[in-house]
Amino acid sequence: MCGIVGYVGKRDVVDVIFKGLTNLEYRGYDSAGMALQDCGELRIYKTLGKLINLKNELEERKSELKHPTSGIGHIRWATHGSPSLVNAHPHTCSCGRLVVVHNGIIENYKELREQLIKKGCNFRSQTDTETIAHLVADEYAKAKDLETAVRNSIKQLQGAYAICVMHKDVPNLIVGARKHAPMLVGIGEDENFIASDTPAIIEYTKKTIYLEDNEIAVVTKDSVKITDINGNTVNKKIEMLPWEPVALSKLGYKHFMLKEINEQPDVIRNVLNGKLYDIDAPVNLSEVKIDKETLKKLNKIQIIACGTSLHAAIVGKYLIEDFAGISVEVEASSEYIYRKTTTDSSTLVIGVSQSGETADTITAIKQAKEKNSHILIITNRPDSNMARLADSLIPVNAGIEVSVAATKSYSAQLISFYLLAIHLAEIKDSMDKEYLKNIKHELIQLPTKIEEILSNTSSIQECARKFSSYKNFIYIARGVNLASAYEGALKLKEISYINATGYPAGELKHGPIAMLDETMPVLAILIPGGITYEKVLSNSEEAKARNAKLIALTSSTDKAIDTLFDNVIRIPHVSEVLSPAITCVPLQLLAYYIAEFLGKDVDQPRNLAKSVTVE
Ligand code: AGP
Repeated sequence: MCGIVGYVGKRDVVDVIFKGLTNLEYRGYDSAGMALQDCGELRIYKTLGKLINLKNELEERKSELKHPTSGIGHIRWATHGSPSLVNAHPHTCSCGRLVVVHNGIIENYKELREQLIKKGCNFRSQTDTETIAHLVADEYAKAKDLETAVRNSIKQLQGAYAICVMHKDVPNLIVGARKHAPMLVGIGEDENFIASDTPAIIEYTKKTIYLEDNEIAVVTKDSVKITDINGNTVNKKIEMLPWEPVALSKLGYKHFMLKEINEQPDVIRNVLNGKLYDIDAPVNLSEVKIDKETLKKLNKIQIIACGTSLHAAIVGKYLIEDFAGISVEVEASSEYIYRKTTTDSSTLVIGVSQSGETADTITAIKQAKEKNSHILIITNRPDSNMARLADSLIPVNAGIEVSVAATKSYSAQLISFYLLAIHLAEIKDSMDKEYLKNIKHELIQLPTKIEEILSNTSSIQECARKFSSYKNFIYIARGVNLASAYEGALKLKEISYINATGYPAGELKHGPIAMLDETMPVLAILIPGGITYEKVLSNSEEAKARNAKLIALTSSTDKAIDTLFDNVIRIPHVSEVLSPAITCVPLQLLAYYIAEFLGKDVDQPRNLAKSVTVE
């Protein structure tokens, strides 16, 4: 939540910060702001709402600027204080000579605020961030050195923060610091950068230093100094970013979400690459750093995740229990961290996260780590904080996902779980070899089948058009596709704001059936040949009897389906156990087209942010 960009150097400062913020807009879009050091002046610009408003403001006031040489920028996802101009960052101290941008939450801000008010500070906003501005200014008055002032200030802060600070007295110098919130330094020639995430800097440099908790970066045009909380210099490794700038382009698609949905066949090929190429050879998952004997004896796994990643985890549970016979518990990270869990050193704990930044999952992983569990992280960001906590790391290689709604990262997580479940089954010798061979064969075929869906989306578009005016939906399924129903419904609600619920088909008659009538469509996932098909069909009949409009998502060619259901979305056939990897695609498209017809902001739905870095 919230994105920060800082820049000192030779380029057009406004342009660099603006583009950086644009590439971080997935982190929040309640308000935006920028502070610039401009020939002895400190200029501040703030606007409410999306970045485009800041762009317009900067354009209108262009004539004020002489030659800015450094600056800091921010996009906000509001936590303390409503989205308003006065709460927008950057925040200043009382005299306006010091500016701060911040991502995170300062938990002791009220006490600090009271102390600072007693000292005469003049607070204007409701934010926790403004406290940092006054605090650092107070320390600066004593230390007369910005780095020392920041160090002395962060010693007093409780909570999470990534901050960038500038002072009018020390132009072209930015001090950054972090704790429990991401921050990195980009190294250039005659220029340097600070940012919350790599997309902000990838256009300019691949050389990066990741700051750790309690580290402070002092950045000028030609120097970067990293120190710890005690002022000792820290020699940091410079890492090379794996991304290309093209990953941040829509490549002709109307929305990133549509582009990312269409990337899924290649994403799956990517995940399989090097791990599964020959159905007769065992899956190669050398990323799992647990010796075979220990894996053979493993009898408990816990998977923790949030949102879409949690849905991938539910599929993972089904697969691991089915293929390897190991008992798996799945829990939302936000619940896991508030109770005594039964984790121990013989439990494998798997954290799943697209961003690798989700605060609840990071806290849950740390909690499990304290109990000496082996930590396996499945993430799209091997450069993330979560990845750094891993004993074993499976990077899912989906490429940067920009749209707030997760799509391709979900597919990549699912495929990673298929590989993990097969890997465990092969080590334990717990599954019929021919069965596993068939699964592997189907996995290799998957991208082509998804390409088939993507090449003709007319039935999905027709369904979207017909149902876009409905206010409530229920998605039903059983077994391994229950997670698909949850995920399809989540996609619909997050980008179209329509109330949609994923529900076990068999549970419908235990309550939710009371809501059914002609205003509540029921979408049923029916994969023939498996153990749930007939049952879901019967549950659909029950819904029809209550006048619900029915949508089928199925690979069945049975004509009876066309008679029973009002709309049928047909997909190529795969076996039931593999079907979540294919049913997710039409469900993503259905949500996308409904949101599109309703004119919603598909890539940046209201109230959401892609990285949820607060608990
Ligand atoms: C997905 O569409 C959502 N935007 C959201 O539920 C997301 O999956 C969740 O916040 C978890 O994020 P993570 O995978 O980055 O940890």
